[in-house]
Amino acid sequence: MSLRKPRLLVLGITGYVGSSLLPYLSRDAFEILTIHRSPYTSNLLQSAGIHSILGDFTDLELIEKTSSEVDIVLLLAKAEVIEFAQAVGRGLMKRVRDGKTGGRKPCVIRLSGAESFVRESGVRAEGERLSDLPGSKLADRISWNHPMALTDRMLIQTGSLSLITTKIVFAGLVYGRSPSRIGYQVASIVNLALARRCVEMISDGTGRWPSIHVQSLCKFLSHLLIDVANNPNQANGSGSEGLYFASTSEHEQKELLEAIASKLHLQNLVDSPNLKVVAPNHVLPLFGRRGSLVFGGDAPFEPARARLLVPDWEKGTASLWDSLPMEMAGVFGVRQRGR
Ligand SMILES: NC(=O)c1ccc[n+]([C@@H]2O[C@H](COP(=O)([O-])OP(=O)(O)OC[C@H]3O[C@@H](n4cnc5c(N)ncnc54)[C@H](OP(=O)(O)O)[C@@H]3O)[C@@H](O)[C@H]2O)c1
Repeated sequence: MSLRKPRLLVLGITGYVGSSLLPYLSRDAFEILTIHRSPYTSNLLQSAGIHSILGDFTDLELIEKTSSEVDIVLLLAKAEVIEFAQAVGRGLMKRVRDGKTGGRKPCVIRLSGAESFVRESGVRAEGERLSDLPGSKLADRISWNHPMALTDRMLIQTGSLSLITTKIVFAGLVYGRSPSRIGYQVASIVNLALARRCVEMISDGTGRWPSIHVQSLCKFLSHLLIDVANNPNQANGSGSEGLYFASTSEHEQKELLEAIASKLHLQNLVDSPNLKVVAPNHVLPLFGRRGSLVFGGDAPFEPARARLLVPDWEKGTASLWDSLPMEMAGVFGVRQRGR
């Protein structure tokens, strides 16, 4: 049976990851749609061959309706808002109920973060490294209380009903230049340090944190999309088997925090180049559930599926250390523009 070109809805195309993904999206393989809120980007998107719908992501009826008209939804926004992903799920299930799939099982792909696997205490279990190979029972390791993880769990459960395919990509710290804005993770550490005039770390800072250049992440997402397009009725790879890690390197929390502290101290923006230790039981009261994200928690993982899916995985992009000066300069640029 020859299937028509799949219709792909990308939500978050103007963001840090979304704007980097744009050149990787194949117009030959997909009919691409997007919902975005700025009228100024409509022409740009249309001229890039993308159908643009003006709207806001708080309009869940629009999200549900548009999702019901496509085969694949890529979620690059609102990772912590469960209602947003639920609206997409309802739309795709409606497509199935209405018999509109044309032989192609609808699929949602969501970008989530490594913090979904961080224990609230931030304390590391020695030698533990998570793998995303099917059969590794990864879903059992997802946190029960991080807001990001609640949506992950909901999607896994939806996928196990087998009506639609659900895939979740867990990315580490994403760094590197993007056309629209700077990444938020290094920026979060720097902004917190500037506000408190010190750089803090959880416990002894030996927690390991994965990272990935934004271009590598986009390359991976584009391969995953093609895989879904080519295998529309995949029996495996959904629900608790549809989980993927995306990282090309990793660092110790302390390594990154010390590098940032030393640069900030040279500019007299923090009081000391030394890190201030935060006890794990203070993370939640002081910084809330996003605390471990701000510092980088402890979630080393093996991106085994990415290695299988993407030729030359790990090759050809700047390291986090090469990108750090640009990331930090980006924060100051944003702060100055914001004045
Ligand atoms: N970057 C990372 O390090 C990382 C790592 C793991 C997971 N993630 C998750 O992946 C997703 C994408 O990350 P990102 O860094 O690319 O985020 P981002 O730069 O903040 O982009 C968010 C996107 O969502 C759009 N958006 C947000 N609220 C909207 C609304 N009410 N109506 C319409 N559009 C709205 C933004 O549109 P505007 O351009 O109009 O603002 C933008 O296109 C996020 O959910 C994030 O939590 C990111």
